[in-house]
Amino acid sequence: MYMLKLLTLLADGNFHSGNELGVAAGISRAAVWKRLQGATAEFGLELQSVPGKGYRLSHPLSLINLNALQANFPYLPIFAYDSISSTNEYAKKMLATQPAPLAIFAEHQTLGRGRRGRKWNSPYAQNLYLSYAWPVTRGMAQIDGLSLVAGLAVVRAVEQVVGTTAQLKWPNDVLINNAKVAGILLELVGDPADLCSVVIGIGVNLNMTSTNQAIDQEWTSLALETGKQVDRTQFAQSVLESLDVYLEKQKNYGFSSLKNEWLSVHGWQGREVVLSVGNELVQGRITGLGDKGEICLLVDGQERLFIGGELSLRLHDDP
Ligand code: ATP
Ligand code: BTN
Repeated sequence: MYMLKLLTLLADGNFHSGNELGVAAGISRAAVWKRLQGATAEFGLELQSVPGKGYRLSHPLSLINLNALQANFPYLPIFAYDSISSTNEYAKKMLATQPAPLAIFAEHQTLGRGRRGRKWNSPYAQNLYLSYAWPVTRGMAQIDGLSLVAGLAVVRAVEQVVGTTAQLKWPNDVLINNAKVAGILLELVGDPADLCSVVIGIGVNLNMTSTNQAIDQEWTSLALETGKQVDRTQFAQSVLESLDVYLEKQKNYGFSSLKNEWLSVHGWQGREVVLSVGNELVQGRITGLGDKGEICLLVDGQERLFIGGELSLRLHDDP
């Protein structure tokens, strides 16, 4: 908690004296120094220390302003953490004692995950790390195409905040100029025959311009695309608004009501692809989507629908 308090004060990139920081965080000047050393080493932040002036971060930080967010969503319990393992893990734990809906943000994830246990790069205060727990109250039809719906909500938030239209890659990627800018990880919690919720994990690269740990595919961020820093709280606000609109539409009218809108931002429509379905590889051309969010491929002259959280698409020409 001290750390977040100190970094919140330093986020503006201006000098703050050790005394000022110590008083605000309720710790000694020596403790300020120690904690800042720890924070900079752990989160890869650059800190300048100038005698007589104090400390300042070389690059200002855009931190999530929980109070501002919560004020705009009075009926949604929102939690914001400094550094945690994974917002999805926290959301799943929290659902044991608290009902959905709820939203969890983090400044940093030590074990951010993608599908099939892959790592999700989650540097401190640079991107959006959100898990939104959504109650499933209308049976399993409510989760048809849900990762596609979440992707659409992200595309609209990106448009609203930076004016760029991203593209969607089935089932869970958001791309800008073929580079991955966001990913979605869905996890079902509870008993599908009784009470259950879906944790919708969303990672969006906002201000990340380089990485400490390499990412083994092309990636981008909104800052790289636009040359401007994104206000992370503004983006978080926009995603929550957009999720609310699209999840309600899916719940009330089914995925088919969003199918055409999804296809209008589909990046791989008509492309020759290889789909991996377990150990099997299916080659075909993407012709569109089914009404439940299935991918529709033309395979040997026949249209076939594929669905499932573990399927992966690659372009046929890719190495
Ligand atoms: P598919 O969804 O087709 O299986 P994928 O390779 O995108 O393909 P995912 O499990 O969806 O796999 O996403 C995890 C992958 O995303 C990681 O293996 C890595 O290549 C990439 N990745 C990790 N962190 C980031 C990040 N912050 N931004 C963009 N890409 C990332
Ligand atoms: C993917 O492309 O495979 C999905 C990536 C999902 C990353 C987000 S970041 C917030 C939430 N917490 C996690 O550990 N993962 C998701």
